[in-house]
Amino acid sequence: MCGIFAYTGKKGKDAGGVLLDGLLSLEYRGYDSAGIFVPESGSVRTPGAVAELRKKMPKDFKGKSGIAHLRWATHGEPTEKNAHPHRSCDGEIWVVHNGIIENFKELKAKLVKAGHTFSSDTDTEVLTHLVEEHLKNQSAEGGSSSGGKGFEKAALAALNEVRGTYGIALQYKKEPDRIIAARMGSPIVLGLGDGEHFIASDPTPILPHTRKVVFLEDGEVAVISPDEHRIFKLDSTKVKRDATDIDWSAEAAQKGGYEHFMLKEIMEGPEVVENTLRGRLIPEKGLAKLGGLETVAKKLETIERIIVVACGTASYASLVGEYMLEEYAGIPVEVELGSEFRYRKSVINERTAVLAISQSGETADTLEALREGKRRGALTLGIVNAVGSTIARETDAGVYNHAGPEVSVASTKAFLSQLTALALFTIFLGRQRGMTAAQGKEIARALKELPKKIQAVLDTKEKIEKLAKKYAHSRDFLYIGRKYNYPIAYEGAIKLKEISYIHAEGCGAGEMKHGPIAMIDENFPTMAIAPKDSMYEKMISNIHEIKARKGPVIAVATEGDKEITKLVDDVMYVPETLEMLSPILNVVPLQLFAYYFAKEKGLNVDRPRNLAKSVTVE
Ligand code: G6P
Repeated sequence: MCGIFAYTGKKGKDAGGVLLDGLLSLEYRGYDSAGIFVPESGSVRTPGAVAELRKKMPKDFKGKSGIAHLRWATHGEPTEKNAHPHRSCDGEIWVVHNGIIENFKELKAKLVKAGHTFSSDTDTEVLTHLVEEHLKNQSAEGGSSSGGKGFEKAALAALNEVRGTYGIALQYKKEPDRIIAARMGSPIVLGLGDGEHFIASDPTPILPHTRKVVFLEDGEVAVISPDEHRIFKLDSTKVKRDATDIDWSAEAAQKGGYEHFMLKEIMEGPEVVENTLRGRLIPEKGLAKLGGLETVAKKLETIERIIVVACGTASYASLVGEYMLEEYAGIPVEVELGSEFRYRKSVINERTAVLAISQSGETADTLEALREGKRRGALTLGIVNAVGSTIARETDAGVYNHAGPEVSVASTKAFLSQLTALALFTIFLGRQRGMTAAQGKEIARALKELPKKIQAVLDTKEKIEKLAKKYAHSRDFLYIGRKYNYPIAYEGAIKLKEISYIHAEGCGAGEMKHGPIAMIDENFPTMAIAPKDSMYEKMISNIHEIKARKGPVIAVATEGDKEITKLVDDVMYVPETLEMLSPILNVVPLQLFAYYFAKEKGLNVDRPRNLAKSVTVE
């Protein structure tokens, strides 16, 4: 969840500035406190985000290397004392950490007994004291604690003692050039520059400096210095890994003229869907060509059941996928939250495929669910946006979204690309299992038309903004939909609640009378997703039920549906498309509505309180 960034270089760059800029680009990972350590200048830590840290840093805070951190609290309050970097008793060893050290209580008790004094409530701090203890023992045994490999040895010994998850960067004040990184469950990537090297939680802060990166695997440790990097395992065996070239531009992650990343990312919808589709459709044959699935194409023919594991917005995309795949590919599909799947005993065999859907590719619960599936013999697949992320690397095969970096915590464009990838996957599997070429062609044609249809919805954004302002006083919202748009009711509701902090509830419209309708009165508006599809008549009945109880209704309806205006208070129109693809259009006005609603309330749209973009802890 937290963000880590470390730098060592000999090019005369000011490490303090490099680290602060890097932290800024990592802010979406977590931001309740921030901190920095530069051996020549010491450390500064603060509750709050990077702007606070910048204010607190003295003018002469300079150096050639250092480590920095953005925290999203798990153990201990987000106070200055608990902010990273953490230090050893003698102030020589410093660490930044993302993850949870599970056996920190036992280790801390042992270290306190040995005379160590702790200055925070965090699990992380045990790491520095452990390294300090090992260095002390080395010098007691006659080894050197400075120079040579003393620090590396001590760090390795410490890492071999901890249990849990970590992505860390460790620095030793006496050897300021060298920084040690390690990974176990929390992502770490190395940036390889010319005369400078970097360590980070993801490539974003590295990109302005170099495009050459190396992803660490679990159980690996790396040492960087200005001129080189080395990787080895926890048992000291050497690891050789080629660098990857990242083609995301640093600017791509900037706001591109919009006030918020969220709006920019919603507006990227047409381009994103186009990118997800690019080179993957053979419309004249009604086929989908998914290079990432080629190696398992034969195996897929033998699969009898798919379990989709995901969290949050990705889980709602998965539910739409379930309907697509069952209707068009005739394969049984189940969707499970990663956090549930990993702890229960579902029935899996070698004829089961576990499909993980994740924007970041790092969500801990989704990753563990995937690993559980693998342990039990399932074929593992992924629909992932972040190239080179852990889920992408651990699946047997998969489909990349190609949505580009998503910065705003509330996921929008990634959701569109997940649905598009699921439609492609449906054609791919469907054509293996009796879907006719005519059906394949029909879906392919409809997919190709989506970008301009999304654009048509985006072009109504001023109208949606007015509507959001009109309803901005509401404290509650019900979102209803059916069939393919039932998950969209949930997705619409989560968008509103996560950035507006108001109560918004998703509900299958047919379930409304089993509870939610009791809440309806003239102050409780409902968002009804009611396109002209096979469920239209049923939706209209549900809307009547709400109107009979004086509830205001905003409908998401199909362009040209004039009838519905007689019944509801307000309408947001979307163009017509195939029923299975309609969620890709219907979600767009709901994303815009949530955005303008939160903006009207003056809230921090891109960085809502208590939430993080990538939840890499359980
Ligand atoms: C967090 C984000 C959500 C996201 C969920 C799953 O909660 O705030 O926007 O849907 O994680 O993330 P993933 O990266 O696995 O899609």
